[in-house]
Amino acid sequence: MTALANEIRRRRTFAIISHPDAGKTTLTERLLVAGGAIQLAGNVRAKGERRRTRSDWMAIERDRGISVVTSVMTFEYKDCVFNLLDTPGHEDFSEDTYRTLTAVDSAVMVIDAAKGIEARTRKLFEICRLRDIPIITFINKMDREAQDPFALLDEVANTLALDTAPVTWPVGRAADFIGTYDLRLQEYRLTQQVPESDPRMQGVAEELELVRAALPEFEVEGFMEGHLTPVFFGAAIKDIGVTDLLDALSAFGPPPRAQPADTRIVSAEEETATALVFKIQANMDPNHRDRIAFARVCSGKIVRGMRMKQARTGKQIPLHAPQFFFARDRQLAEEAFAGDVVGIPNHGTLRIGDTLTEEEGLNFTGVPYFAPEILRRVQIKDAMKAKKLKQALQELAEEGVVQLFRPRDGSQPIVGVVGVLQLDVLMARLANEYGVPITFDQTPFSLARWVSGEKAALEKFIDAQRSAMADDVDGDPVFLASSAFMMRRTAELSPDITFRDVKDMHADAVSA
Ligand code: G4P
Repeated sequence: MTALANEIRRRRTFAIISHPDAGKTTLTERLLVAGGAIQLAGNVRAKGERRRTRSDWMAIERDRGISVVTSVMTFEYKDCVFNLLDTPGHEDFSEDTYRTLTAVDSAVMVIDAAKGIEARTRKLFEICRLRDIPIITFINKMDREAQDPFALLDEVANTLALDTAPVTWPVGRAADFIGTYDLRLQEYRLTQQVPESDPRMQGVAEELELVRAALPEFEVEGFMEGHLTPVFFGAAIKDIGVTDLLDALSAFGPPPRAQPADTRIVSAEEETATALVFKIQANMDPNHRDRIAFARVCSGKIVRGMRMKQARTGKQIPLHAPQFFFARDRQLAEEAFAGDVVGIPNHGTLRIGDTLTEEEGLNFTGVPYFAPEILRRVQIKDAMKAKKLKQALQELAEEGVVQLFRPRDGSQPIVGVVGVLQLDVLMARLANEYGVPITFDQTPFSLARWVSGEKAALEKFIDAQRSAMADDVDGDPVFLASSAFMMRRTAELSPDITFRDVKDMHADAVSA
């Protein structure tokens, strides 16, 4: 194996999905500690000076006690390099969450042992499934009153239509929970020594017989295909089951996968470097208008100082000061391999969905924009600031904070979001960073769909529907409908037009 392939194969890039309060933060902290936490980019519950100085709009986070910003945490454990991409922990969805999940190779689903599958877990799970992302289940809080493990496994299997195979089994319950038995390695990991005559040990021996007789054995293939989830039991707060999880990710967690592009599929171990921008974060420092583009390295390796080509425009992007989130003792690293995430400072050149290559002209697919579920008209409080607003909305839309629709009839811009929290973020950032306070009005529209078709047919459609047409942030046409009924009706009457609820910048090229 080449040195490059070796580096790439030891990458494990994953996210944790859960319902609020299930223990994601606690588990994240424990994983970082177990891995000797190399560097935190963004912070897990960091309360220090650094966080306070980061940006005003983070006030929303503090006020609500939530984390709006997706961050990347890198640590080493045994032979593997782990990249943990944090997804926002609040109830609300944002497109960032979806897009973060497009940048991982696996997901850990944390479930509260007392509550089982909750609403948000389910929704996030569905996104993972849509993308065939292998999922590992971690049943947390086994140190409390919990549901029976067999019942929990059944619940996961039934609600998510997923095969479940326990990899560990809990020893003792609630206050007596003292560790796990690893079915794969056939060994106990206990927090205290107990004799075999201990009732907990006898209990687990009986249960294990039942487990072996009644439940499927874990097999890697089903896991990789995304239809079987290995299940672990633990209590993050007591550090039980955390290393089980890391050991499993090291042993059979998926290494960086191949990434589909418009012209071909790019294997992670190719020599030449490619990367895909899945997130933009701006104004981390209010004094600079810099943005950081977060890009997943899809193949090869990226080295500080190299130039990459932005496929969309052909522009050369110098990587003078990329942030590599792999750095021991906070020293900057010099290189990043497929599976890693790099942060590239820029002034708005890089967009979500952008592909970077060394030379080849190819565009990765699969970083989508979703049709927003909520539409609002932006009302400016100070008409003198209309021009500033226009620029600010464009910038924030490029960053992915909201989607922007400019009505063709010249009326006030409309913004679209997947979750309402995005509206709060937009309002706060417009006021704090751009000095443009706004309010939101209802719009007559409730649905947005990207439309495409043959040139003449499309022009005809746009002309006929002018009052319901808008341009999105890239200037692509969007049809706005007042109701699902109107949308269906219009679609029926326009058979030569395609209506899409997901915009994938380059997916058309693949099917064409
Ligand atoms: P989240 O990020 O998924 O929202 O969950 P978080 O880790 O913040 O955990 C939510 C609550 O559950 C916290 O308690 C946390 O201490 C507790 N918790 C997490 N893991 C375990 C576990 O394995 N066992 C038990 N018994 N509790 C666990 P809190 O009181 O809401 O917050 P705090 O006062 O501890 O900060």
